[in-house]
Amino acid sequence: MDFEKFENQSAQDALSWALETYGDKIALACSFGVEDMVLVDMLAKINPKARIFTLDTGRLAQETYDVMDAARDKYGIEFEVMFPQTAAVEEMESKNGANLFYQSIESRKLCCNVRKMEPLRRAFASLDAWITGLRREQAVTRTDIPKVGHDEGNDLIKVNALIDWSEDQIWAYVKENKVPYNLLHDQGYPSIGCAPCTRAVKAGEDIRAGRWWWERPDQKECGLHAKEQAQ
Ligand code: ADX
Ligand code: SF4
Repeated sequence: MDFEKFENQSAQDALSWALETYGDKIALACSFGVEDMVLVDMLAKINPKARIFTLDTGRLAQETYDVMDAARDKYGIEFEVMFPQTAAVEEMESKNGANLFYQSIESRKLCCNVRKMEPLRRAFASLDAWITGLRREQAVTRTDIPKVGHDEGNDLIKVNALIDWSEDQIWAYVKENKVPYNLLHDQGYPSIGCAPCTRAVKAGEDIRAGRWWWERPDQKECGLHAKEQAQ
């Protein structure tokens, strides 16, 4: 398929095409960060029945659960919540402790695997395509990602409808459409993941400086978006 044409289309047009094409075989992966909230608002307006799932790692911030409930109330959406396998978390924490992610990159990746990647693979089982809130501006690892492409690692179509949006565009949309957002964004958190692996950034610091802040920038992907996409 010629995905190049989507580069000049609006986010809403790309989403409308995606929902029409993939129906209930497409879903938004929603972390409840501000980009995903923009997408929730757009999807609710295009088709309120659009599927949205979230990976609840069990280690999210209270503010993240708060915005999830605010969105449930505003849009009447039932988010599909994916939770890690109990036995895998029990074994991981018994062997490595509850805060294993600070010990080494391997331990951090193990935790991301158990708490995010395995549930994500289960979510993918019912999908042909997925929607994300990735933006090129976010990281050195994200500058080449297309708006729509084939996600080779997962063999799914991946729709990154906001890939070319700036942070200012995101916040202008939020204001204009009164979109609920995670209150941590007002406290110096431009990017929000699990509570123990996210901190506020200082003025002038990179958007993702507060994510896994003890690791190098080129290592900071949890596996969700690790593989490059072919156009
Ligand atoms: S991450 O890979 O570093 O965690 P980031 O927080 O920037 O990713 O989010 C990028 C996109 O990945 C989000 O817009 C969303 O589509 C997806 N994503 C990240 N975390 C989750 C989550 N917990 N549940 C569902 N989707 C997620
Ligand atoms: Fe575990 Fe941190 Fe990865 Fe969350 S971000 S799954 S707490 S290592």
